[in-house]
Amino acid sequence: MYEKLINGALEVLDNSYAPYSGFHVAACLLTDTGNIYTGVNVENASYPAGICAECNAVAKAVSSGERHIRSIAIVGKDSKGSDSGYISPCGICRQVLREFSDPAELKVIMAKSASDYKEMTLEELLPFSFGPEYLK
Ligand code: THU
Repeated sequence: MYEKLINGALEVLDNSYAPYSGFHVAACLLTDTGNIYTGVNVENASYPAGICAECNAVAKAVSSGERHIRSIAIVGKDSKGSDSGYISPCGICRQVLREFSDPAELKVIMAKSASDYKEMTLEELLPFSFGPEYLK
């Protein structure tokens, strides 16, 4: 069901720039307009300046005028190419996704392959969350 998104993430995984952690991550998201955006983690010699794959994909989507994410697939591998398991989005990425989604509806697909993945909603990953509606 999420083959297109998972394969989209796998296609860009080798673009991940992770010379410090050796942990490569890629994300591919679908917006409510039907468009797809990918992102990879981009690390930096000044470690905190690095950006996660999911945040990168969200930034690309929002920069293109998108405002609502429906689903996102996340894949990863280490420098040896070993299976890194199901990559769960970090806390900052969860909050960034929260800004541009309905948490009960957003599907987060943590994938090893197109046929092997875990599916959770953002609400399950980030319960009782703080979002834009608090600031209206
Ligand atoms: N990373 C992501 O890209 N997304 C996550 O949700 C978890 C962590 C990246 C950040 C860093 O480049 C590497 O994985 C190791 O933490």
